[in-house]
Amino acid sequence: MEHEVCIPVSSEIDIVTARQKGRQMAAPLGFSNTELTLIATAISEVVRNIVEYARSGELCLDIVREGDRRGIVVTAQDRGPGIPNIKLAMQDGYSTGKSLGLGLPGAKRLMDEFEIESEVGRGTKITMKKWVQKNAR
Ligand SMILES: Nc1ncnc2c1ncn2[C@@H]1O[C@H](COP(=O)(O)OP(=O)(O)OP(=O)(O)O)[C@@H](O)[C@H]1O
Ligand SMILES: [Mg+2]
Repeated sequence: MEHEVCIPVSSEIDIVTARQKGRQMAAPLGFSNTELTLIATAISEVVRNIVEYARSGELCLDIVREGDRRGIVVTAQDRGPGIPNIKLAMQDGYSTGKSLGLGLPGAKRLMDEFEIESEVGRGTKITMKKWVQKNAR
């Protein structure tokens, strides 16, 4: 797979599909099995948030190259309610939905790069990247 793949997200079932597609796209790049699990876990969290807070959205996966580095880029986008305070949402333990509040900060720790754009009433876009470690293969 060398092109962007997008998965529509509207229910819990899509979490499984997104995880599988993520592993499938990242595996040939040379990630270890542990790293593939970390990527799949980060994908689960952002997709779960779409289902919980925005009802529907889209998860896209692509391969990125920067010089001799290669990695996977994961984009989760929705037109849901948006996040009023991103700094707060990124804190461990902050949840507006009686949950653990570990999804976003956890996903950030699991990936190498993590960015949120969100506007109240318009939606949320999360972009995260993970690079293949140079001497891992
Ligand atoms: N796509 C989104 N749209 C709107 N709000 C969101 C979205 N994703 C996260 N949020 C807000 O950010 C908060 C923190 O998200 P995070 O995933 O860290 O925790 P959680 O979903 O509440 O709990 P957990 O993920 O641990 O089950 C959420 O409670 C919610 O208020
Ligand atoms: Mg969450």
